[in-house]
Amino acid sequence: MAPSESKGARFSPDDVTVVFVLGGPGAGKGTQSENLVRDYGFNHLSAGDLLRAEQVREGSEYGELIRHHIREGTIVPMEVTVALLSNAMADILDKGTSKSSPARFLIDGFPRQLNQAHFFEETVCPSKFVLFLSCPEEVMRSRLIKRGETSGRDDDNIESIRKRFRTFIETSMPVVDDFESKGKVIKVEATGTVDEVYERIKEEFQKKGVSTL
Ligand code: ADP
Ligand code: C5P
Ligand code: MG
Repeated sequence: MAPSESKGARFSPDDVTVVFVLGGPGAGKGTQSENLVRDYGFNHLSAGDLLRAEQVREGSEYGELIRHHIREGTIVPMEVTVALLSNAMADILDKGTSKSSPARFLIDGFPRQLNQAHFFEETVCPSKFVLFLSCPEEVMRSRLIKRGETSGRDDDNIESIRKRFRTFIETSMPVVDDFESKGKVIKVEATGTVDEVYERIKEEFQKKGVSTL
């Protein structure tokens, strides 16, 4: 499972462009990532989705560990998550299906902790920038409760949502602040309709020189 035993990053920025998509639970990371996949040819990798898939994969030694962290809204040890992300990137590159060169990757819901950010950038690939979806807690809460009516997710319930918000503020916001201090954050207000938020994102991407395909 180790992403790379050797020193240095597994992928070069010549071959891959990595954009992290961050924001609180329910801010709209998955929703907006779909838009970006369609128009910009990004490959979308959601850390949460990869963990949920690993949780139910037959033979996985991490199933129980992941289930526990997801329900408690805490962070799965980074070695597990980074290996899943790194291997998913390698699979996509091996298939050769990327629509651009360098291949574009949206890494959604990661890094959620400062050490994850450092570990990923040292062993997998440095990121280009961070798209941060900024959203008030009340808005995120109501979106998550609504999503919980159909998502079947173990953590779309009031108790887990409360814990996830806490983890976001205490553990994940410092990651955004760290990238911000390096001038690497595009911050977009995530309130309003899906289309309104996406328009703001496109505007910011244009300013950053990221073009549609
Ligand atoms: P995240 O991946 O950040 O947790 P999602 O993209 O899954 O968030 O969005 C959370 C829920 O809110 C989903 O049910 C989604 O359909 C809905 N949603 C996303 N963006 C908006 C928006 N701008 N307005 C209303 N609902 C939204
Ligand atoms: O991003 P998403 O809401 O799908 O994440 C669900 C859960 O997966 C998080 O609350 C957390 O328990 C776990 N997770 C993690 N590390 C990440 C991303 C998600 O531990 N980088
Ligand atoms: Mg999501």
